[in-house]
Amino acid sequence: MTAGGPRVLLTRRVPSSILEKLEAACDVQLEESALTPEQLRERIRDKQGLICVLTDRVDEPLLDAAPELKVVANIAVGYDNIDAPAAARRGVVVTNTPDVLTEATAELTWALILAAARRIAEGDRLVRRGAWKGWAIDFMLGTELRGKQLGIIGRGRIGRAVAAKAAAFGMTAVFAKQDMSIDELLISSDVISINTSLRPDTRHLIDRRALMRMKRSAILVNTARGPVIDEEALAWGLQEHLIAAAALDVYEKEPIVHEALLTMENVVLAPHLGSATRETRTAMIDLAVRNVIEVLQGREPLTPVKPGRA
Ligand code: GLV
Repeated sequence: MTAGGPRVLLTRRVPSSILEKLEAACDVQLEESALTPEQLRERIRDKQGLICVLTDRVDEPLLDAAPELKVVANIAVGYDNIDAPAAARRGVVVTNTPDVLTEATAELTWALILAAARRIAEGDRLVRRGAWKGWAIDFMLGTELRGKQLGIIGRGRIGRAVAAKAAAFGMTAVFAKQDMSIDELLISSDVISINTSLRPDTRHLIDRRALMRMKRSAILVNTARGPVIDEEALAWGLQEHLIAAAALDVYEKEPIVHEALLTMENVVLAPHLGSATRETRTAMIDLAVRNVIEVLQGREPLTPVKPGRA
């Protein structure tokens, strides 16, 4: 710990090699577990830097409690947990962790597409409860991906990385807005992947109306942010067989999942694992730490957020 260096609050334990790098430059207060908003406000009071995760809410009251704050480094690419305009008004730099998690999140997206199309989670549950009677010609038939259309909502890095893998499965990838309107994409796609950030204009983008436009055979996948889908509408749409299946990594009120979704066999539920590989998490933490050091040593951040981007 560099006593006398800039004071930084780190809201989670990180690998010791990265912590050492931060401690060589800053006076670090490390929290071992999640803080309540009150505890966070208390701990941030005298800090110049904050390294936080997506479940930490950085809102006006928190920013007001931190008059010395210069930088907030989110260990995530999405930063809807941070009031970025409010931070900008106070001259506080906000950074995120783009690029380093693109491939991990694209891979998880494909894991979910394949799991839903080939009923992997449902099959796993069946085997575990001893209900498998053996191979049968018409047993647990899924959907082939080859020749189908993958509609991607969100043309950012992750959406493009998902698209890049489509050819390997013989799918044609199309992007909303670039190749066709969102409505056209909803109507014509066999798999719909949500890869957009959460913003006022993407909140509940997938609502009842959107679900009614989709093919009855469609698979809806979300590895972006839960509130892009109206979960209540999705539960209704699945109950009404408006679409065939859904595969979700993110939810409106994490870690709470809509009760109806928990009971449906044709829904794959992952616990927000998009960037959860050892390689990627290490790279994300390292990038957040480097961002904080850069700003607190008077240099430009490596990956400042650009509010309003997909
Ligand atoms: C994870 O959800 C992230 O935004 O990095």
